[in-house]
Amino acid sequence: MREREYIALTSGDHPELGLGELRAVLAVLGVESDPRPIAERLATFRALPEQAKEVAARCGLVKEVAVLSLKADVDLIGTDIDIDQSSVEAITEPYAVRALRLHGHERPSRVEVERWVASVLDRVRPGLKVDLESPETVFRVYVAGELVAGGPLTGERDRVGLARRAPVNRPFKLPSTLQPREARVMVNLSRTPIGARLLDPFSGTGAILMEAASLGYDAIGIEVRTWITRGALRNLKAFNLREESEVVAGDSSSMPLRGGVGGVATDPPYGRSTRVIGPSLVDLVDFVISSLTELLERGRRIVVAYPMGLKLPATLASSMVVERYSCRVHPSLVRVLHVLEV
Ligand SMILES: C[S@@+](CC[C@H](N)C(=O)[O-])C[C@H]1O[C@@H](n2cnc3c(N)ncnc32)[C@H](O)[C@@H]1O
Repeated sequence: MREREYIALTSGDHPELGLGELRAVLAVLGVESDPRPIAERLATFRALPEQAKEVAARCGLVKEVAVLSLKADVDLIGTDIDIDQSSVEAITEPYAVRALRLHGHERPSRVEVERWVASVLDRVRPGLKVDLESPETVFRVYVAGELVAGGPLTGERDRVGLARRAPVNRPFKLPSTLQPREARVMVNLSRTPIGARLLDPFSGTGAILMEAASLGYDAIGIEVRTWITRGALRNLKAFNLREESEVVAGDSSSMPLRGGVGGVATDPPYGRSTRVIGPSLVDLVDFVISSLTELLERGRRIVVAYPMGLKLPATLASSMVVERYSCRVHPSLVRVLHVLEV
């Protein structure tokens, strides 16, 4: 199988973060191509077919990935444009064209776009069978401003798995928990090598551990409150993730680990439900991050969620920070994801 060009659609609520996650997942999968944004929420990259499929399956904010078969200006709708022949040859019948309007003008309508693409495909491969209800192949077309682009869908985000691990379905939950999608993005931003050990030093109910374990990492958490540690273990067990994970009852400021960690993703305690035990939050976070920098090899990453508006620990304002993303959680909480490189 040869490398080819793909197009990824990121989620509408955090396009920048989606692009950052895509970049991180490509790096983890060993894809050399850097994603190239071509419109808000759309980026292209070169990869092997199995890598493209895996990108979509691993991401929290990349909704889907399609082969890039056509890319044109909206003005060309209705004309006989060029389309990548090999991707049309590879369509499994029956198929359906499905257009998505991302942003821009009212026209052309979705139906106009779908009819036009179907006629272009019919010219390249006459008689291609269509089934609008249950197609084998969905030929996705995005309309974003002046751009029309798309091709056969190759992979989608693991919506079912992410929904299954939502807080409502967990046996143990606390208000401070992360949604699976948020936790997954943090795991991906850590760029932990596939199969390596991922550490969450403030693991709470285990949202990050669940996503890390479900991506095949050896997930290890540290949680100072024993009753929460027990709850996190119940959660991991409920989703059959106990073999890939461990939660240690302990204080991260006296780090029980000595090495063997490939990356860190964590959401330190703040707010009423997750009071800090011992020093101030700032001192605790600084102390733990400093000890992690000694534990991790050079080039490894630490992802830390920290609320906007609180005094920032020095480590989160240091030159170790290589990426930063703001996510509005609710009117009184904007969580900033800091990505540090050791
Ligand atoms: C914001 S919560 C983590 C939430 C978690 N991401 C989840 O989805 O449930 C932070 C957790 O850190 C724990 N914690 C506080 N101080 C700690 C310390 N020194 N060492 C380890 N855990 C600590 C708190 O008990 C709390 O459960």
